[in-house]
Amino acid sequence: MGAVSTPETRSKVFCECGAEKELHYAKCGEWDCPVCWEAKHEAREAAKREAERLRALRRGVGAKFYDADMRRCDDKIAAVAAVKRWVADPAGIILVHGKCGRGKTYLASAAKKEFNRRDVLSQFICEDEIFLRIKQSFEKNAKKTEYEVYESFAHSYPLIIDDAGVEKTSEFTLSVWERIIGRRYRENYPTMITSNLNIDELAARMGFRITERIRESKMIYEYTGENRRAR
Ligand SMILES: Nc1ncnc2c1ncn2[C@@H]1O[C@H](COP(=O)(O)OP(=O)(O)OP(=O)(O)O)[C@@H](O)[C@H]1O
Ligand SMILES: [Mg+2]
Ligand SMILES: [Zn+2]
Repeated sequence: MGAVSTPETRSKVFCECGAEKELHYAKCGEWDCPVCWEAKHEAREAAKREAERLRALRRGVGAKFYDADMRRCDDKIAAVAAVKRWVADPAGIILVHGKCGRGKTYLASAAKKEFNRRDVLSQFICEDEIFLRIKQSFEKNAKKTEYEVYESFAHSYPLIIDDAGVEKTSEFTLSVWERIIGRRYRENYPTMITSNLNIDELAARMGFRITERIRESKMIYEYTGENRRAR
């Protein structure tokens, strides 16, 4: 802090960083270092950017899977190796199906985190959340229109849908899949789907037209191995 001085008697005041301080009348005559102020400002901005990056990292991914890491997924499992290839070069529709507790959600979360790490925009969402968002749009005073919700899944960057095929089949669920997967298929947008159901069982949930489109990418993998929850 500099000595009190009038403009006539004022001598130069230097900061510890070596830069000359400036007198700020707006701040009751405090001496401020513009270099340090800029550095502090930049640090605050960097902290904000980091917080936003972390939010993006976690968006959609459950707290249990924040630490999911591709490097901890075993390449010897064909589904894992395939997802790693897809993440490296996302194209087409990849389906990972398998029994409970094999690690599908972990793998899907790790894929999302890998995209974030590489600054590749992507979206991770669970099936139930998709249906919820669309149903919400039907409500009076809904924040988003039905059209807008569908558009939020029609982006060109990778979309990861976890746990597809849980919701009971209805005309509504069939039309949702037709619109979301059908659209992404037509536009050739990269999509990853995980499910407890295999492709034949999924046909009853998504409609045969959609599962035929999924088959076309030739990226249908069973996540084999033991039930990790039963260990
Ligand atoms: N590669 C891994 N490394 C460490 N932990 C893992 C790995 N894969 C899965 N797990 C853990 O094993 C458990 C089961 O994994 P996960 O929830 O991904 O299974 P799932 O196949 O999605 O099951 P479900 O079909 O019931 O949804 C979780 O506690 C998860 O954190
Ligand atoms: Mg799961
Ligand atoms: Zn300074």
